[in-house]
Amino acid sequence: MAQVILIESNKTLNDLISINLTTYLGVDLIHRHNAVDTINLLSILPTVDLIVTNQAVRNEPTAQLIENYIIANKLNTNLIVLGSNAKSFDNVLHISDPKNWEQVVKITAKILGINDSVIARRILPDYVPIPVRYFLNLDNVNCDVFIRIKKSPTEYQYIKRIHNGDNFSKDSIHRYIQQGLDDLYIPKDAKNNFATYLSNQLVNKMENPHLEINQKIQIMGESYDIAVREVLKLGFTSETIQLTEVIIQNMVKNFEKSPEMSGLLHKLINSDTGLLFQRSHMNSVVASEMVKNLKIKDDKAFEKIAYASFFHDIFLTDDEFLSKINSNEELEQAALPDKEWDKVFNHALDAANLLRKHPEAPTGSDEIIKNHHGASNGNGFSNSIDTLPMLSKIFIIAHNFVLELIRFKELGGEPKPITDELFKRYPGPEMFLLIKSLENTLKKKNF
Ligand SMILES: [Fe+2]
Ligand SMILES: [Fe+2]
Repeated sequence: MAQVILIESNKTLNDLISINLTTYLGVDLIHRHNAVDTINLLSILPTVDLIVTNQAVRNEPTAQLIENYIIANKLNTNLIVLGSNAKSFDNVLHISDPKNWEQVVKITAKILGINDSVIARRILPDYVPIPVRYFLNLDNVNCDVFIRIKKSPTEYQYIKRIHNGDNFSKDSIHRYIQQGLDDLYIPKDAKNNFATYLSNQLVNKMENPHLEINQKIQIMGESYDIAVREVLKLGFTSETIQLTEVIIQNMVKNFEKSPEMSGLLHKLINSDTGLLFQRSHMNSVVASEMVKNLKIKDDKAFEKIAYASFFHDIFLTDDEFLSKINSNEELEQAALPDKEWDKVFNHALDAANLLRKHPEAPTGSDEIIKNHHGASNGNGFSNSIDTLPMLSKIFIIAHNFVLELIRFKELGGEPKPITDELFKRYPGPEMFLLIKSLENTLKKKNF
Protein backbone atom coordinates (compact mmCIF):
# COMPACT_ATOMS: atom_id res chain seq x y z
CA MET A 1 0.00 0.00 0.00
CA ALA A 2 1.35 3.37 -1.02
CA GLN A 3 2.24 5.78 1.80
CA VAL A 4 1.29 9.41 1.49
CA ILE A 5 1.83 12.27 3.93
CA LEU A 6 -0.71 15.10 3.88
CA ILE A 7 -0.06 18.59 5.27
CA GLU A 8 -3.19 20.65 4.75
CA SER A 9 -4.28 23.18 7.35
CA ASN A 10 -7.70 23.90 5.81
CA LYS A 11 -9.97 21.43 7.56
CA THR A 12 -12.49 20.99 4.72
CA LEU A 13 -9.81 20.52 2.09
CA ASN A 14 -7.97 18.16 4.36
CA ASP A 15 -11.13 16.02 4.70
CA LEU A 16 -11.81 16.07 0.96
CA ILE A 17 -8.31 15.05 0.01
CA SER A 18 -8.13 12.44 2.77
CA ILE A 19 -11.35 10.73 1.88
CA ASN A 20 -10.56 10.65 -1.82
CA LEU A 21 -7.05 9.34 -1.38
CA THR A 22 -8.03 6.66 1.07
CA THR A 23 -11.34 5.59 -0.43
CA TYR A 24 -10.66 5.79 -4.14
CA LEU A 25 -6.93 5.30 -4.31
CA GLY A 26 -6.58 3.10 -1.28
CA VAL A 27 -3.46 4.82 0.05
CA ASP A 28 -2.12 4.68 3.56
CA LEU A 29 -2.47 8.30 4.61
CA ILE A 30 -0.40 9.98 7.33
CA HIS A 31 -1.32 13.45 8.61
CA ARG A 32 1.41 15.96 9.59
CA HIS A 33 1.20 19.66 10.55
CA ASN A 34 4.38 21.21 9.19
CA ALA A 35 7.83 20.60 7.73
CA VAL A 36 9.41 19.92 11.09
CA ASP A 37 7.24 16.99 12.08
CA THR A 38 7.26 15.71 8.48
CA ILE A 39 11.05 15.65 8.36
CA ASN A 40 11.15 13.96 11.75
CA LEU A 41 8.97 11.22 10.30
CA LEU A 42 10.97 10.97 7.07
CA SER A 43 14.11 10.36 9.07
CA ILE A 44 12.63 7.11 10.35
CA LEU A 45 10.37 6.36 7.37
CA PRO A 46 12.29 7.31 4.23
CA THR A 47 10.12 5.11 1.96
CA VAL A 48 7.14 7.47 1.85
CA ASP A 49 5.93 7.64 -1.78
CA LEU A 50 4.41 11.07 -1.79
CA ILE A 51 3.96 14.19 0.30
CA VAL A 52 1.08 16.55 -0.41
CA THR A 53 1.62 19.89 1.29
CA ASN A 54 0.57 23.52 1.48
CA GLN A 55 3.27 25.77 0.18
CA ALA A 56 3.60 27.37 3.59
CA VAL A 57 2.24 26.77 7.06
CA ARG A 58 2.12 30.02 9.01
CA ASN A 59 5.59 31.51 8.60
CA GLU A 60 7.29 28.26 7.75
CA PRO A 61 8.26 27.73 4.05
CA THR A 62 7.04 24.16 4.43
CA ALA A 63 7.29 22.94 0.83
CA GLN A 64 10.78 24.36 0.38
CA LEU A 65 12.09 22.78 3.58
CA ILE A 66 10.74 19.38 2.65
CA GLU A 67 12.08 19.64 -0.90
CA ASN A 68 15.51 20.50 0.45
CA TYR A 69 15.42 17.49 2.75
CA ILE A 70 14.37 15.14 -0.08
CA ILE A 71 17.17 16.34 -2.32
CA ALA A 72 19.81 16.31 0.42
CA ASN A 73 18.88 12.75 1.40
CA LYS A 74 18.39 11.50 -2.16
CA LEU A 75 14.88 10.21 -1.35
CA ASN A 76 12.52 8.92 -4.05
CA THR A 77 9.64 10.72 -2.40
CA ASN A 78 7.40 12.80 -4.69
CA LEU A 79 6.07 16.16 -3.64
CA ILE A 80 2.86 17.96 -4.56
CA VAL A 81 2.78 21.60 -3.51
CA LEU A 82 -0.60 23.33 -3.24
CA GLY A 83 -0.89 27.08 -3.84
CA SER A 84 2.41 27.56 -5.60
CA ASN A 85 3.08 29.09 -8.99
CA ALA A 86 6.59 27.71 -9.25
CA LYS A 87 7.43 25.48 -12.18
CA SER A 88 7.10 21.75 -11.71
CA PHE A 89 10.17 19.60 -12.24
CA ASP A 90 11.13 15.96 -11.66
CA ASN A 91 9.45 14.76 -8.50
CA VAL A 92 8.07 18.12 -7.47
CA LEU A 93 4.70 19.25 -8.82
CA HIS A 94 3.16 22.63 -8.16
CA ILE A 95 -0.59 23.27 -8.29
CA SER A 96 -1.39 26.96 -8.26
CA ASP A 97 -4.99 26.74 -7.06
CA PRO A 98 -4.68 25.79 -3.37
CA LYS A 99 -8.20 24.35 -3.41
CA ASN A 100 -7.96 22.11 -6.44
CA TRP A 101 -8.27 18.83 -4.55
CA GLU A 102 -9.48 16.99 -7.68
CA GLN A 103 -6.18 17.74 -9.33
CA VAL A 104 -4.42 16.36 -6.25
CA VAL A 105 -6.35 13.10 -6.56
CA LYS A 106 -5.59 12.82 -10.27
CA ILE A 107 -1.88 13.55 -9.95
CA THR A 108 -1.56 11.26 -6.97
CA ALA A 109 -3.15 8.46 -8.98
CA LYS A 110 -0.70 9.10 -11.79
CA ILE A 111 2.33 9.17 -9.51
CA LEU A 112 1.26 5.96 -7.79
CA GLY A 113 0.53 4.27 -11.12
CA ILE A 114 -3.19 3.80 -10.49
CA ASN A 115 -4.96 3.89 -13.84
CA ASP A 116 -8.20 5.67 -14.66
CA SER A 117 -10.41 2.64 -14.91
CA VAL A 118 -9.53 1.66 -11.36
CA ILE A 119 -10.43 5.15 -10.20
CA ALA A 120 -13.63 5.22 -12.24
CA ARG A 121 -14.69 1.94 -10.68
CA ARG A 122 -13.91 3.17 -7.21
CA ILE A 123 -15.50 6.56 -7.59
CA LEU A 124 -18.81 5.12 -8.78
CA PRO A 125 -21.28 4.51 -5.99
CA ASP A 126 -22.15 0.90 -5.31
CA TYR A 127 -25.29 -0.38 -6.95
CA VAL A 128 -27.76 -2.94 -5.76
CA PRO A 129 -29.88 -5.11 -8.03
CA ILE A 130 -33.67 -4.89 -7.93
CA PRO A 131 -35.67 -7.53 -9.83
CA VAL A 132 -37.06 -5.95 -13.00
CA ARG A 133 -40.60 -7.13 -12.35
CA TYR A 134 -40.78 -5.02 -9.17
CA PHE A 135 -40.99 -2.02 -11.47
CA LEU A 136 -44.18 -3.32 -13.07
CA ASN A 137 -45.95 -2.17 -9.93
CA LEU A 138 -44.66 1.38 -10.12
CA ASP A 139 -45.38 4.32 -12.39
CA ASN A 140 -42.41 6.32 -11.21
CA VAL A 141 -39.42 5.97 -8.96
CA ASN A 142 -37.80 7.93 -6.15
CA CYS A 143 -34.22 7.33 -7.31
CA ASP A 144 -32.16 6.92 -10.46
CA VAL A 145 -32.39 3.49 -12.05
CA PHE A 146 -29.65 1.90 -14.13
CA ILE A 147 -29.05 -1.08 -16.34
CA ARG A 148 -25.76 -2.90 -16.01
CA ILE A 149 -23.70 -3.71 -19.06
CA LYS A 150 -20.61 -5.86 -19.20
CA LYS A 151 -17.67 -3.83 -20.43
CA SER A 152 -14.98 -6.47 -20.14
CA PRO A 153 -14.74 -9.82 -18.37
CA THR A 154 -14.11 -8.04 -15.09
CA GLU A 155 -15.80 -4.68 -15.53
CA TYR A 156 -19.37 -3.46 -15.61
CA GLN A 157 -20.79 -0.18 -16.72
CA TYR A 158 -24.02 1.27 -15.34
CA ILE A 159 -26.21 3.29 -17.65
CA LYS A 160 -28.98 5.44 -16.30
CA ARG A 161 -32.38 4.49 -17.76
CA ILE A 162 -34.85 6.18 -15.44
CA HIS A 163 -34.25 9.48 -13.71
CA ASN A 164 -35.30 10.09 -10.14
CA GLY A 165 -38.95 11.18 -10.14
CA ASP A 166 -39.61 10.37 -13.79
CA ASN A 167 -42.64 8.47 -14.99
CA PHE A 168 -41.92 5.41 -17.08
CA SER A 169 -44.05 3.09 -19.16
CA LYS A 170 -44.88 -0.51 -18.30
CA ASP A 171 -43.96 -1.35 -21.90
CA SER A 172 -40.35 -0.39 -21.31
CA ILE A 173 -40.24 -2.72 -18.30
CA HIS A 174 -41.89 -5.52 -20.28
CA ARG A 175 -39.25 -5.09 -22.95
CA TYR A 176 -36.47 -5.59 -20.40
CA ILE A 177 -38.19 -8.72 -19.17
CA GLN A 178 -38.57 -10.04 -22.73
CA GLN A 179 -34.89 -9.42 -23.31
CA GLY A 180 -34.15 -11.67 -20.39
CA LEU A 181 -32.95 -8.92 -18.06
CA ASP A 182 -33.37 -10.04 -14.45
CA ASP A 183 -32.39 -6.93 -12.56
CA LEU A 184 -32.25 -3.20 -12.76
CA TYR A 185 -29.86 -1.35 -10.47
CA ILE A 186 -30.22 1.51 -8.05
CA PRO A 187 -27.52 3.27 -5.98
CA LYS A 188 -26.89 1.46 -2.73
CA ASP A 189 -27.72 4.56 -0.69
CA ALA A 190 -31.18 4.68 -2.27
CA LYS A 191 -32.08 1.12 -1.26
CA ASN A 192 -33.99 1.85 1.93
CA ASN A 193 -35.99 4.71 0.49
CA PHE A 194 -36.82 2.64 -2.56
CA ALA A 195 -38.07 -0.26 -0.43
CA THR A 196 -40.35 2.10 1.50
CA TYR A 197 -41.59 3.71 -1.67
CA LEU A 198 -42.36 0.38 -3.36
CA SER A 199 -44.07 -1.00 -0.31
CA ASN A 200 -46.24 2.13 0.07
CA GLN A 201 -47.25 2.00 -3.59
CA LEU A 202 -48.29 -1.64 -3.32
CA VAL A 203 -50.21 -1.02 -0.12
CA ASN A 204 -52.02 1.95 -1.68
CA LYS A 205 -52.99 -0.14 -4.67
CA MET A 206 -54.25 -3.03 -2.55
CA GLU A 207 -56.26 -0.68 -0.38
CA ASN A 208 -57.96 1.06 -3.26
CA PRO A 209 -61.67 0.50 -2.52
CA HIS A 210 -62.61 0.61 -6.21
CA LEU A 211 -60.62 -2.47 -7.11
CA GLU A 212 -62.57 -5.31 -8.58
CA ILE A 213 -61.75 -8.70 -6.99
CA ASN A 214 -59.72 -10.02 -9.94
CA GLN A 215 -57.60 -6.87 -9.99
CA LYS A 216 -57.13 -7.14 -6.28
CA ILE A 217 -55.97 -10.75 -6.58
CA GLN A 218 -53.52 -9.69 -9.25
CA ILE A 219 -51.93 -6.96 -7.19
CA MET A 220 -51.93 -9.15 -4.08
CA GLY A 221 -50.10 -11.84 -6.03
CA GLU A 222 -47.47 -9.40 -7.22
CA SER A 223 -47.08 -7.97 -3.73
CA TYR A 224 -46.82 -11.48 -2.29
CA ASP A 225 -43.88 -12.32 -4.57
CA ILE A 226 -42.10 -9.15 -3.55
CA ALA A 227 -42.92 -9.49 0.14
CA VAL A 228 -41.75 -13.09 0.35
CA ARG A 229 -38.47 -12.37 -1.41
CA GLU A 230 -37.78 -9.30 0.70
CA VAL A 231 -38.54 -11.16 3.93
CA LEU A 232 -36.13 -13.90 2.88
CA LYS A 233 -33.47 -11.32 2.08
CA LEU A 234 -33.95 -8.77 4.85
CA GLY A 235 -36.15 -10.39 7.47
CA PHE A 236 -38.87 -8.26 8.99
CA THR A 237 -38.37 -4.56 8.40
CA SER A 238 -41.05 -1.91 8.73
CA GLU A 239 -41.71 -2.30 4.98
CA THR A 240 -41.97 -6.08 4.87
CA ILE A 241 -44.14 -6.08 7.99
CA GLN A 242 -46.50 -3.53 6.48
CA LEU A 243 -46.66 -5.35 3.17
CA THR A 244 -47.26 -8.84 4.58
CA GLU A 245 -49.84 -7.47 6.98
CA VAL A 246 -51.87 -5.83 4.21
CA ILE A 247 -51.76 -8.92 1.98
CA ILE A 248 -52.83 -11.16 4.86
CA GLN A 249 -55.68 -8.87 5.92
CA ASN A 250 -56.84 -8.88 2.29
CA MET A 251 -56.76 -12.68 2.22
CA VAL A 252 -59.13 -12.65 5.17
CA LYS A 253 -61.32 -9.94 3.61
CA ASN A 254 -61.56 -11.77 0.30
CA PHE A 255 -62.77 -14.84 2.13
CA GLU A 256 -65.27 -12.96 4.27
CA LYS A 257 -66.68 -11.06 1.33
CA SER A 258 -67.05 -14.03 -1.00
CA PRO A 259 -70.54 -15.51 -1.01
CA GLU A 260 -69.18 -18.97 -1.79
CA MET A 261 -65.82 -20.62 -1.55
CA SER A 262 -65.72 -22.17 -5.00
CA GLY A 263 -66.07 -18.87 -6.84
CA LEU A 264 -63.08 -17.40 -5.04
CA LEU A 265 -61.00 -20.54 -5.55
CA HIS A 266 -61.71 -20.43 -9.26
CA LYS A 267 -60.68 -16.82 -9.47
CA LEU A 268 -57.47 -17.59 -7.62
CA ILE A 269 -56.47 -20.66 -9.55
CA ASN A 270 -57.17 -18.97 -12.88
CA SER A 271 -55.42 -15.72 -12.00
CA ASP A 272 -52.15 -14.73 -13.58
CA THR A 273 -50.24 -14.94 -10.30
CA GLY A 274 -47.51 -17.16 -8.89
CA LEU A 275 -48.28 -20.68 -7.76
CA LEU A 276 -47.17 -20.15 -4.18
CA PHE A 277 -49.43 -17.15 -3.82
CA GLN A 278 -52.38 -19.04 -5.29
CA ARG A 279 -51.79 -21.94 -2.97
CA SER A 280 -51.35 -19.73 0.07
CA HIS A 281 -54.52 -17.82 -0.59
CA MET A 282 -56.54 -20.93 -1.47
CA ASN A 283 -55.24 -22.60 1.63
CA SER A 284 -56.47 -19.74 3.80
CA VAL A 285 -59.85 -19.78 2.05
CA VAL A 286 -60.44 -23.53 2.40
CA ALA A 287 -59.24 -23.71 6.01
CA SER A 288 -61.31 -20.65 6.96
CA GLU A 289 -64.39 -22.20 5.34
CA MET A 290 -63.86 -25.32 7.46
CA VAL A 291 -63.50 -23.19 10.60
CA LYS A 292 -66.80 -21.55 9.72
CA ASN A 293 -68.59 -24.82 9.03
CA LEU A 294 -67.27 -26.45 12.18
CA LYS A 295 -68.29 -23.38 14.20
CA ILE A 296 -64.90 -23.17 15.89
CA LYS A 297 -64.92 -20.51 18.57
CA ASP A 298 -61.78 -18.49 18.02
CA ASP A 299 -62.00 -14.82 17.05
CA LYS A 300 -58.56 -14.89 15.59
CA ALA A 301 -58.90 -18.15 13.69
CA PHE A 302 -59.14 -16.62 10.20
CA GLU A 303 -56.19 -14.39 10.87
CA LYS A 304 -54.07 -17.20 12.32
CA ILE A 305 -54.84 -19.32 9.30
CA ALA A 306 -54.07 -16.51 6.87
CA TYR A 307 -50.69 -15.87 8.54
CA ALA A 308 -49.87 -19.56 8.49
CA SER A 309 -50.94 -19.85 4.85
CA PHE A 310 -48.79 -16.91 3.83
CA PHE A 311 -45.61 -18.14 5.49
CA HIS A 312 -45.79 -21.92 5.73
CA ASP A 313 -43.64 -22.74 2.69
CA ILE A 314 -41.60 -19.56 2.55
CA PHE A 315 -38.32 -21.47 2.65
CA LEU A 316 -39.30 -23.41 -0.47
CA THR A 317 -40.15 -20.27 -2.42
CA ASP A 318 -37.59 -20.84 -5.12
CA ASP A 319 -38.46 -24.44 -5.75
CA GLU A 320 -42.04 -25.27 -6.59
CA PHE A 321 -41.25 -28.95 -6.90
CA LEU A 322 -40.01 -29.15 -3.31
CA SER A 323 -43.06 -27.32 -2.01
CA LYS A 324 -45.32 -30.02 -3.46
CA ILE A 325 -43.74 -32.87 -1.51
CA ASN A 326 -46.38 -33.94 0.98
CA SER A 327 -45.32 -37.21 2.63
CA ASN A 328 -42.30 -39.20 3.76
CA GLU A 329 -42.73 -41.48 0.76
CA GLU A 330 -42.72 -38.58 -1.67
CA LEU A 331 -39.65 -37.15 0.03
CA GLU A 332 -37.75 -40.42 -0.35
CA GLN A 333 -38.91 -40.92 -3.93
CA ALA A 334 -37.65 -37.46 -4.86
CA ALA A 335 -34.08 -38.72 -4.20
CA LEU A 336 -32.86 -35.25 -3.33
CA PRO A 337 -29.27 -34.17 -2.64
CA ASP A 338 -28.64 -33.83 1.12
CA LYS A 339 -28.97 -30.07 1.14
CA GLU A 340 -32.38 -30.05 -0.51
CA TRP A 341 -33.57 -33.00 1.54
CA ASP A 342 -32.71 -31.04 4.71
CA LYS A 343 -34.47 -28.00 3.36
CA VAL A 344 -37.71 -29.91 2.85
CA PHE A 345 -37.38 -31.83 6.11
CA ASN A 346 -36.90 -28.63 8.15
CA HIS A 347 -39.01 -26.12 6.25
CA ALA A 348 -42.02 -26.23 8.58
CA LEU A 349 -39.97 -25.65 11.72
CA ASP A 350 -37.82 -22.98 10.06
CA ALA A 351 -40.89 -21.07 8.87
CA ALA A 352 -42.52 -21.30 12.31
CA ASN A 353 -39.38 -19.86 13.89
CA LEU A 354 -39.30 -17.08 11.34
CA LEU A 355 -42.92 -16.13 11.90
CA ARG A 356 -42.29 -15.74 15.62
CA LYS A 357 -40.22 -12.69 14.72
CA HIS A 358 -43.17 -11.02 12.99
CA PRO A 359 -44.56 -8.56 15.56
CA GLU A 360 -48.11 -8.61 14.14
CA ALA A 361 -48.50 -12.39 13.80
CA PRO A 362 -51.20 -13.74 16.14
CA THR A 363 -49.98 -16.26 18.71
CA GLY A 364 -50.65 -19.76 17.48
CA SER A 365 -50.08 -19.12 13.79
CA ASP A 366 -46.51 -20.33 14.22
CA GLU A 367 -47.80 -23.60 15.66
CA ILE A 368 -50.04 -24.18 12.64
CA ILE A 369 -47.03 -23.73 10.40
CA LYS A 370 -44.90 -26.06 12.47
CA ASN A 371 -47.57 -28.76 12.22
CA HIS A 372 -48.55 -28.28 8.58
CA HIS A 373 -47.10 -31.63 7.46
CA GLY A 374 -48.40 -33.46 10.49
CA ALA A 375 -45.22 -33.52 12.61
CA SER A 376 -45.67 -31.95 16.03
CA ASN A 377 -42.02 -30.79 16.11
CA GLY A 378 -42.01 -29.38 12.57
CA ASN A 379 -39.57 -31.93 11.19
CA GLY A 380 -40.56 -34.13 8.29
CA PHE A 381 -44.02 -35.61 7.70
CA SER A 382 -46.45 -37.55 9.85
CA ASN A 383 -49.94 -39.01 9.53
CA SER A 384 -50.49 -39.32 13.28
CA ILE A 385 -52.07 -35.97 13.90
CA ASP A 386 -54.69 -36.75 16.55
CA THR A 387 -52.90 -34.86 19.29
CA LEU A 388 -52.31 -31.69 17.29
CA PRO A 389 -54.36 -28.55 18.01
CA MET A 390 -57.65 -28.15 16.14
CA LEU A 391 -56.50 -25.36 13.82
CA SER A 392 -53.43 -27.37 12.84
CA LYS A 393 -55.62 -30.32 11.87
CA ILE A 394 -57.93 -28.12 9.83
CA PHE A 395 -54.96 -26.55 8.11
CA ILE A 396 -53.52 -29.97 7.24
CA ILE A 397 -56.77 -31.08 5.61
CA ALA A 398 -57.11 -27.82 3.67
CA HIS A 399 -53.46 -28.05 2.64
CA ASN A 400 -53.91 -31.59 1.28
CA PHE A 401 -56.97 -30.51 -0.63
CA VAL A 402 -55.33 -27.47 -2.20
CA LEU A 403 -52.30 -29.49 -3.26
CA GLU A 404 -54.61 -31.98 -4.96
CA LEU A 405 -56.50 -29.18 -6.65
CA ILE A 406 -53.27 -27.79 -8.07
CA ARG A 407 -52.10 -31.23 -9.13
CA PHE A 408 -55.38 -31.76 -10.94
CA LYS A 409 -55.14 -28.39 -12.65
CA GLU A 410 -51.59 -29.02 -13.79
CA LEU A 411 -51.83 -32.68 -14.77
CA GLY A 412 -55.49 -33.00 -15.73
CA GLY A 413 -56.97 -36.52 -15.84
CA GLU A 414 -59.67 -37.87 -13.59
CA PRO A 415 -60.19 -35.80 -10.42
CA LYS A 416 -59.30 -38.03 -7.50
CA PRO A 417 -61.95 -38.27 -4.81
CA ILE A 418 -59.68 -36.43 -2.43
CA THR A 419 -61.75 -36.87 0.68
CA ASP A 420 -61.68 -40.68 0.34
CA GLU A 421 -57.91 -40.52 0.43
CA LEU A 422 -57.98 -38.19 3.41
CA PHE A 423 -60.25 -40.53 5.38
CA LYS A 424 -57.67 -43.27 4.79
CA ARG A 425 -54.68 -41.11 5.55
CA TYR A 426 -56.10 -39.63 8.75
CA PRO A 427 -58.38 -42.21 10.41
CA GLY A 428 -60.18 -41.57 13.70
CA PRO A 429 -63.54 -40.10 14.67
CA GLU A 430 -62.48 -36.50 15.09
CA MET A 431 -60.65 -36.40 11.79
CA PHE A 432 -63.69 -37.99 10.21
CA LEU A 433 -65.78 -34.98 11.24
CA LEU A 434 -63.21 -32.54 9.97
CA ILE A 435 -62.88 -34.18 6.59
CA LYS A 436 -66.66 -34.48 6.41
CA SER A 437 -66.98 -30.72 6.86
CA LEU A 438 -64.77 -30.22 3.82
CA GLU A 439 -66.70 -32.84 1.89
CA ASN A 440 -70.02 -31.16 2.59
CA THR A 441 -68.74 -27.84 1.27
CA LEU A 442 -67.36 -29.52 -1.83
CA LYS A 443 -70.53 -31.43 -2.52
CA LYS A 444 -72.57 -28.27 -2.30
CA LYS A 445 -70.34 -26.44 -4.75
CA ASN A 446 -69.68 -29.46 -6.92
CA PHE A 447 -65.90 -29.74 -6.78
FE1 LIG B 1 -47.53 -26.02 1.44
FE1 LIG C 1 -44.88 -27.32 3.37
